[in-house]
Amino acid sequence: MHPDLLLRNAQQNSTLAGRLTLRMSDNLHQLRCFGCGQRIRGDQAGPNFRCADCGDLFEVEYPGWHHVGGTDRPNSGALKWLWRERRLSQERLDQSGVWRFREMFPILNDFNQAVTLREGNTPLYHLSLAARSLGLDALFAKHQGMNPTGSFKDTGMTAALSVARERGFEWVACASTGNTSAAMAAYAARAGMRSLVLIPQGKIAWGKLSQAMDYGAVTCQLETDFDGCVRVLTRIVEEAPIYLLNSVNPYRLEGQKTPALEIAEAMDWNVPDHILVPGGNLANSSALGKGFREMKELGLIHRLPRITVIQAEGAAPLARSFAANGGRVLEPVEAQTRATAIRIGNPASWRKAAQVIHETGGWCLDVTEGEIAVAKAELGREGIGSEPASAVTLAGLKKLAADGRVAASDSVVLLLTGHTLKDADYTIDFHRGTLLTEAECAPVAAAIEPLRRNALAVEATPEAVLGALRAVVENPIAVARN
Ligand code: F0G
Repeated sequence: MHPDLLLRNAQQNSTLAGRLTLRMSDNLHQLRCFGCGQRIRGDQAGPNFRCADCGDLFEVEYPGWHHVGGTDRPNSGALKWLWRERRLSQERLDQSGVWRFREMFPILNDFNQAVTLREGNTPLYHLSLAARSLGLDALFAKHQGMNPTGSFKDTGMTAALSVARERGFEWVACASTGNTSAAMAAYAARAGMRSLVLIPQGKIAWGKLSQAMDYGAVTCQLETDFDGCVRVLTRIVEEAPIYLLNSVNPYRLEGQKTPALEIAEAMDWNVPDHILVPGGNLANSSALGKGFREMKELGLIHRLPRITVIQAEGAAPLARSFAANGGRVLEPVEAQTRATAIRIGNPASWRKAAQVIHETGGWCLDVTEGEIAVAKAELGREGIGSEPASAVTLAGLKKLAADGRVAASDSVVLLLTGHTLKDADYTIDFHRGTLLTEAECAPVAAAIEPLRRNALAVEATPEAVLGALRAVVENPIAVARN
């Protein structure tokens, strides 16, 4: 029997299931302006998803949840039971690690129309080597790069693109540093919709560009940066009937809440002491914070983890803002980093992310190009590949552990956001020793040398290969340097 039916029976038969209401086809949301608090219906938002009065972003809210005992407020015990039952279900939506939690984001009139690639359900890996070297008991990586298109963007895209389809749009669009465009193009293709991608010329990793092309997006490379692409697209959606799927679209964040649910569920509805997230446009940290906040509000968890955002030094407007004024005012920067996914100087969701950091007691830090490269190779050494933007989390954790903000007994989850094959050039350049400048390399040179693994050119005989093997065992660092 389908878990939803089971639950309905349980509800009728047992007071234990309580007042959980699962009206699958209900759309229970409204939008609230993050700046001035104005509330509108979901279909009243303008094409750029900015408040007509104050220009700030919207946030999805579910008014029924506030009425404790009301029929629209889900029951936490019953939800936990239902979500676990769904893991055994063969239903399309239940097999998605996003839609399995659909009671947490009733944004569609008909859930059955959701566009899914079976996203979510990503692994939570124990990082034993990194834990040992940092002296931590419990260090995990939630690997969102294990999603269908290789990044965390899939969890938000399945939600927002489903809204676009339900509202009758034929075209969707985004400006992107690569991963959003790959995700959008894939989900649009699955839905039979058309997609337009704007990317900064020469500043995205090839793996991501190839995905947009493969999934049939109209892909325009503009001679500007990500922030310039956003400016152009904002004008386009005002003139053409194209649905904007950048993370200013609040429905993206609703799907991106679900890794928070997965983490809590995996920890038996406890939460870790710390979550570290890379920061670019700052939607993901906002979404995770919203996820934990709402779980607490509904009684699914009893406290919040500290959420800390890590940025690359050359693209760190929020880290600078926290250092200068506690995150109250943000000066955009001209962004520069090899972690191209987070090369963003004017992040749209910075106010939401700053609120999450304040509310949870987290921090915002930046890390250098050298620190990112070392952290990525260290993750790789324990079998966990990731793209450079993800590795900022481990680099940031080292700083927090060194200055005592993370204690040995604290539990920590790093959010890894993208798959290692998204940017294979970066990895190869690192191991060849051509990635960093001398100045970038110098402060981390001692850490880099033992991590480098060059491909060896060896004659095609067993003796030559065995000879090479012997040389590596005897002097690994010298061989890697060759
Ligand atoms: N990690 C990866 C791999 C990303 O692709 C991004 C953002 C981030 C971290 C930062 O997340 O923007 O929510 O703070 N990539 C966007 C894109 C901007 O277009 O693919 P954020």
